[in-house]
Amino acid sequence: MSFDKIGVIDFGGQYAHLIATKIRRFNVYSEIRQPDDPIEKFMDYKGIIISGSPSLSSCGEDSEYNKKIYDLNIPILGFCFGHQEIAKHYGGRVINGGREWGETKFKILKRDHPLFEGLSEVESVFMSHFDSVDAIGPDFEEFGISYLSAGKEIHRFAAIGSDKHKRYGFQFHPEVDDTINGEKMISNFIFNICGCRPNWTMDEYLRVQFEKIRKVVKDKSVFLLVSGGVDSTVTAFLLKEILGPKRLRLLHIDNGLMRKNESKDVVEMFKKNGFGSNLYFVDASDIFIDALKEVFEPEKKRQIIGDTFIKVFTEEAERLNIKDFLLGQGTIYPDTIETGGTKRSDTIKTHHNRVPIIRQMIEEGKIVEPLAELYKVEVRELGRRLGIDEDLINRHPFPGPGIGVRVLCNSKEEDLSDIPLIDREVKDFLSKSKIDALILPIRSVGVKADLRSYERPVLLNCKYDEKIFEIASDMLAKIKGINRCIVNLSNTKITSVRAHRAYITKKRLDLLREIGEIINTILKNSGIYNKIWQCPVVIIPLELNGRGEELVVIRPVLSERGMTAKAAFLPAEVISAIIKNLSGFKDISGIAIDITSKPPGTIEWE
Ligand code: XMP
Repeated sequence: MSFDKIGVIDFGGQYAHLIATKIRRFNVYSEIRQPDDPIEKFMDYKGIIISGSPSLSSCGEDSEYNKKIYDLNIPILGFCFGHQEIAKHYGGRVINGGREWGETKFKILKRDHPLFEGLSEVESVFMSHFDSVDAIGPDFEEFGISYLSAGKEIHRFAAIGSDKHKRYGFQFHPEVDDTINGEKMISNFIFNICGCRPNWTMDEYLRVQFEKIRKVVKDKSVFLLVSGGVDSTVTAFLLKEILGPKRLRLLHIDNGLMRKNESKDVVEMFKKNGFGSNLYFVDASDIFIDALKEVFEPEKKRQIIGDTFIKVFTEEAERLNIKDFLLGQGTIYPDTIETGGTKRSDTIKTHHNRVPIIRQMIEEGKIVEPLAELYKVEVRELGRRLGIDEDLINRHPFPGPGIGVRVLCNSKEEDLSDIPLIDREVKDFLSKSKIDALILPIRSVGVKADLRSYERPVLLNCKYDEKIFEIASDMLAKIKGINRCIVNLSNTKITSVRAHRAYITKKRLDLLREIGEIINTILKNSGIYNKIWQCPVVIIPLELNGRGEELVVIRPVLSERGMTAKAAFLPAEVISAIIKNLSGFKDISGIAIDITSKPPGTIEWE
């Protein structure tokens, strides 16, 4: 059986993944497409959804997408920017104006339409737009209007449609939870309009993977690198089911970038689960640390770690005399997207599973990635189905390059000439709220309008409370050159900061391991661990107030897929426990907490 599929065209609004996951929850497979993908990629969809975008349709921004999609006899539904593009394409007009933001009433004018089955006459929806549809083409009808309070300021064309062309548009975002019955609207489209069958179940996914992997692997073996993280663990269990334990060899490489005791625990766990006979372990920490010597730039670090993995892995394969194997990887769906790989998307980061050697091996058909179509929630569901321990399944995600992306590096040659201007703007911005700030003389990775940024974090000397989150987000949106905000957690005001030259060393890694372990234990004991997506701990080579060597930054985040995230608020008792337990480390110059959402910050600092 083949799956019915919906393609979601990602115009850069981070909402596209939300749309795709919501569709999958209805057991219909959906995947992300880029706007300029060739038309062949769209041919076998039962429906297409055009996502929102930060671009303005009224100004013709982002209008260079593949318009041949409109020639296909496949239903298309647009949200926000997508809605406006559809209106425009079929003879309507989009103007810059009619802005709406937040919870809005949507009055359905065409309730008997299958798109609105099971909905009330007035629904609560989420709006976020500057442009509006002002007129529609001849084959289109107005399906609904919107307003804040009945009778006042009516916004027309909140929903439009043409059954003749099978094109529909919603000005609002049905994919976000604030649109109360948004999921019903999405399911009406995929089932009533596109006629999808809900046949993409985990059982079906497994059945297809069994077939696919057997076909690809034939009589060869798969050699799988296992980090002990959720993804590679689920991949190992899945491949063992499909190929049997004899044709699966596992290799765990201690790259020196693991958490405290992690390698030992990983090896024990796999042994306990019956992988013992084909499980190999190599301690390559010195090789990795050596390769990272004098490396300061985040992307360079990633590339070196990725390449060293392959080098160590190939040497091990030779040493173990494993020939004619395929390489298994626990790559999941978002990993394949964030690396870019299309003309349009910028490389936000090179995922360790997508370094050039691996790309080449993919082209040669030498890679097996049974989870490459799944989101994390789905991987966890699959893991449960395969009988993996709940503790393992609920582990926080851990990046392939390990704590290598949490030990920040700094070269002496850093240009700091941008700081005075940013400093003035930040101080101006914060003058009303009387918050004191320092611009840090290092950079961290972030993401803005889907582009990678490498900009300065701002350290705030202020009380850590929920109010400050809003001020920070406002400031990050308004001032150029900054992409993160952290709050100083110590009682001493930080008045001076100096960066020193630092790269990845065993000493720094060991320090981070100790600190990370302490913080993780506090989070677990307080019950917070299972409530948050992740809490990376980062060290930055900064001397504060003339003392210490490393600023520790705690980065607790809430997220569903890791593609976007909200900074989590940690209660006062957890903060005090962290400060108290870290007080004995003489190298620590300060402790701060990251209050930045993603975007504009990423989860990892790199
Ligand atoms: P960022 O920092 O991009 O991270 O917001 C999003 C999520 O991905 C994890 N991450 C990785 N996972 N290999 C992985 O398997 C990687 O190279 C990698 N880099 C980041 C990160 O921990 C977060 O959960």
